[in-house]
Amino acid sequence: MTNSGTGPGPITPDGSPVDFYSLLEPGAEPEIAARVTPSGGTILELGAGAGRVTHALVERGFDVVAVDESPEMLARVRGARTVLGRVQELRLDERFDTVMLASQLVNTVDDTLRRDFLAACARHVKPGGAVLIQWISADGHDRWRAGTGRQDGAVTITMTAVEETSPGIFHATMRYAHEGPGDAGGSVWTQSFASKRLTDEELAAELAGAGLRLERFLTEDRMWLLAVPA
Ligand SMILES: C[S@@+](CC[C@H](N)C(=O)[O-])C[C@H]1O[C@@H](n2cnc3c(N)ncnc32)[C@H](O)[C@@H]1O
Repeated sequence: MTNSGTGPGPITPDGSPVDFYSLLEPGAEPEIAARVTPSGGTILELGAGAGRVTHALVERGFDVVAVDESPEMLARVRGARTVLGRVQELRLDERFDTVMLASQLVNTVDDTLRRDFLAACARHVKPGGAVLIQWISADGHDRWRAGTGRQDGAVTITMTAVEETSPGIFHATMRYAHEGPGDAGGSVWTQSFASKRLTDEELAAELAGAGLRLERFLTEDRMWLLAVPA
């Protein structure tokens, strides 16, 4: 199964509905980045989407380069330099204080692609810099249940289906419903994706393969971790 999405507006190659991601508020990410990045420092945001986190980082005074393979997503980014392209092929002639790989891209079921994502992080971080990775832990996968979800402002996010189709490989579908006013009011999107369950040890080994060392988890839910050049 390839990742896919449905609903109004453009859908990215990985199944992300652009209009839906444009509605979401920044969460804890800007504060997490600020904890590990020097004031006014440089941040490379990989898979930046419509700028949900980018805009908050720019507001905090960081110098941000936002990378995404979706031109429709990048068209919504303001205040940052944008680079249209695939993370795995990225070769910028510069290094950054912090490189962010968000949105559980590291849980891709394509092992080669995961290594290429991590290699892109490693070749763009300064010596002594920080690589911030958002992932779903093994426990996180084990807690996935159809029918669970959360509210994000006027958006209801529900996991409508999840199945472990082979050992460690999960296929899930999310439903995003926007009940608020405005053009997007009443819109419903779905996003289906595959995710690989990685243990802490497996993740640490993947990082080591890219020349990175798992330093520590940054959030209580362990979804964000700090890796540094080994
Ligand atoms: C789920 S969206 C989240 C966007 C943003 N990180 C956020 O949290 O709001 C994931 C984004 O990653 C981008 N993406 C996925 N795989 C990518 C790749 N291999 N190279 C570049 N961008 C990618 C998609 O186009 C999409 O915009």
